[in-house]
Amino acid sequence: MDSGKPSHRGSFGTRLGVILASAGSAVGLGNIWRFPTEVGNNGGAAFILVYFGFVLFLALPVMVCEFLMGRSSRSNTVGAWKVLAPGSPMIVAGYMGILAGVLILSFYSVVAAWTLDYTFMSLTNQLTGDQDYAKIFQTFVSNPWKPLVFLALFLLLTHWIVVRGVERGIERYSKLMMPLLLVIIVVLAVYAAQMPGAEAGLSYLLRPDFSKVTPSVALSAMGQALFSLSVGIGCLTTYASYFRRETRLMSSALSVCLIDTLVAVMSGFIIFPAVFSVSGVGVDAGPGLVFITLPYVFNSAFSTMPVLGYLFSGLFYLLLILAALTSSISMHEITTAFLTDRSVQKNVNKSENYGLPRRRAARIVTLVCILLGTACSLSFGPWKEYTLCGMGVFEWFDYVTAKFCMPLGALMISIFVGWYMPHREVRDQLTNWGTLSVRLYGIFRFLARWVAPLGVAIVFLNELFYGTTK
Ligand code: ALA
Repeated sequence: MDSGKPSHRGSFGTRLGVILASAGSAVGLGNIWRFPTEVGNNGGAAFILVYFGFVLFLALPVMVCEFLMGRSSRSNTVGAWKVLAPGSPMIVAGYMGILAGVLILSFYSVVAAWTLDYTFMSLTNQLTGDQDYAKIFQTFVSNPWKPLVFLALFLLLTHWIVVRGVERGIERYSKLMMPLLLVIIVVLAVYAAQMPGAEAGLSYLLRPDFSKVTPSVALSAMGQALFSLSVGIGCLTTYASYFRRETRLMSSALSVCLIDTLVAVMSGFIIFPAVFSVSGVGVDAGPGLVFITLPYVFNSAFSTMPVLGYLFSGLFYLLLILAALTSSISMHEITTAFLTDRSVQKNVNKSENYGLPRRRAARIVTLVCILLGTACSLSFGPWKEYTLCGMGVFEWFDYVTAKFCMPLGALMISIFVGWYMPHREVRDQLTNWGTLSVRLYGIFRFLARWVAPLGVAIVFLNELFYGTTK
C-alpha cells in the first residue's frame, strides 16, 4: 500500500489536472451520443431525474472505491488487486478491466471514426441541403475501407497523446480539450435554446412525467450511469494511481460526477430543442439520432441562414470528437499502464510485471485495437452476414463490456472496498491521513457496503436475464 514515497510512474501535476483528466475519461460518446438516445427512448425528464439518483448513490461511491484502490496500490488495474488482495481470486476483476478497456476502445473508435468523417464532411460543407441523410450514413458505415482510414487516424491520435506520458500527455491534453469542450457545449446549448419551437424540447427535458418510470426505465438509467462515468473497469483505478497524496478523493469524485452529469444534460439541451424545432422528427431515433436526425435538423432549422447550420454542425461534431478522445486515452491507458508497470511492491512477484517501455506498450495496445476495431467496423459492411446469436462483432463487444464487465467489475470493487479492504486504509485514504474532515466518511461507507453492491447486482442480473440496458 501507498508508502508515501514519491512514485516513479509519473503523476498528475495539479488538482485541476486530476479533475479534468478524470472528467475527460468520463465525458465521452456516452454523454453526447448515448445519453440523449437513452433519454429519447425512455421518456425524457423523468428518466433524467432517476439517472441523477443513480449517479449520486451508485456510480459516485464506486468511483470513490476505484480512486481509493488506485492511490492506495499505486498500480494499474491488475496490479491494484495483486497489492491489495494478494492471492485473491478477485484479481479476475483486474483482468476483466484490461479486456473491457481494449474491447471498448475498439468499438468506441468505430463511432469516433464516423464522427471524424462527419466533422470533415460538415467542415467541407457536404452536410448541407436537402439530402437523404439516412442513406449517406448507411453508405459511409458500410464502405469497406473509408471508415477504416478514420478508425486508424483516431487511434493514432489517441496513441500520440498516450505515449507522451501522464503529465505531458494525458494531463496536458485533457487540460486543453476539456475547457474547449465545455465552451463549445455552452455555445451550442445557448444557440439551441433560441431556435424557434425550442420550448417544446425544453419542456420535454424539464417537466417530468413520472408515469413513464417503469422498472426497465430505471434500470436503463442505472446502466447509463455506470457507462457514462467509466466505472467498473479499472480505468479510474489506473488514473488514481497517478494522484498525489494531497488529492482529495471524495471531492475529486464529486467534481467528476458533476461535470459528467452537466455535460450529459447540456447535450440534451442541445439536441432536444433542436429536434423539437423541426416538425416530423422523432426524439426516439436511437443511435442514428446524432448521425442521421441531427444533420437533417441542422439544415431544416437553419434553412434561411445556412452559414449558421454549417457552424452549428461543425462545432457539434468537433465536440463529439473531443469528448471521444478524452475518453479513448483513458481506455488506452488501462492496458498501457498494465504493460508498463514494474513491480515496486514487496508482495508482488517481479516476474508477473511486464515493465515494457511506454512507447512499446502503447504500440501494442494501438495495434490490437486497430485490428479489433477493423473487425467491428467491417461488421457494418462486408462482414454484416457474420453474426452469432443475431449480433455482429460491434454488438458483441458492446454487449460483453456493458452487460458483463462493467457491472461485474463495479460489484467486485464495491464489495472489496466496502467489506474486505482494511478499514484503517480506507479511512486514511479518504481523509488524507487524518487531515480532512471525516463527516462524509460514514455516508460513503454505507453506500459502498450496501447501496452500491445491491444496486449493481440488480442491474447486472437484470441485464443478464432481461437485457434492457444495452
Ligand atoms: N465514460 C465514457 C463515455 O461516457 C466511456 O463515453
